[in-house]
Amino acid sequence: MPKLGVNIDHVATLREARKIDMPDPVDAAYLCLKAGCNSIVCHLREDRRHIKDDDVLKLRKIANARLNLEMSVAPDIVEAACRLRPDQSTIVPERREEVTTEGGLDVVKFEKKIRKVVARLEEMHIDVSLFINPVRKQIDASINSGARVIELHTGRYANTNSESARRKQLDVLRATAEYALSKGLEVNAGHGLNYDNVWDVARIDGINELNIGHSIISRSVFTGLYAAVKEMLELIK
Ligand code: PXP
Repeated sequence: MPKLGVNIDHVATLREARKIDMPDPVDAAYLCLKAGCNSIVCHLREDRRHIKDDDVLKLRKIANARLNLEMSVAPDIVEAACRLRPDQSTIVPERREEVTTEGGLDVVKFEKKIRKVVARLEEMHIDVSLFINPVRKQIDASINSGARVIELHTGRYANTNSESARRKQLDVLRATAEYALSKGLEVNAGHGLNYDNVWDVARIDGINELNIGHSIISRSVFTGLYAAVKEMLELIK
């Protein structure tokens, strides 16, 4: 059974709607952990639109929480990560104007740059994961860049409307996960997963962790965060 990482960015998004101190993503993290998730995920964006450096610092201090920091390869963000020392960094592509991470990292194109960032983070004892589309050549490039963990972008699977296209994307995810595992990588997956579509992805052999944000935080508005995380964990189980 894959573990669950909960992305709490949207708690900070709500806080930033008023620019005051609530709701606090640290309180959210406590509840998610109490409900049984494995790690807390947050994205320190270049424009700091939701999560701030101080949030990461506080999240870092929660006992027993594994903190997975999503980040770009921008030099100041890499240095911030080295200062903040999450347990893991997940490198994602970032565009200022996007509403969420739109696709996987092009490791093939930016391999040299990514290799340097992987080495810098590992030097600081931070595990590094690369968020990539489920494509073999991106997996090969990830290995060449020195990463030992990847996260497969499940957006295409999650966002398709037709059942046949969904099945096809599921096959792609299954085949690429198998390929990456055969190369010795740890494989995570995420983006767009929700209470209706998580089940099939959770059944893919060998996936270590699913990282889920928007659907859990959305449901929590109605059920509370503890129940929303519990329900997701039940589905994954
Ligand atoms: N994994 C990564 C690398 C992401 O960038 C995101 C979005 O922040 C997620 C998982 C979670 O995606 P969602 O909010 O759609 O569940």
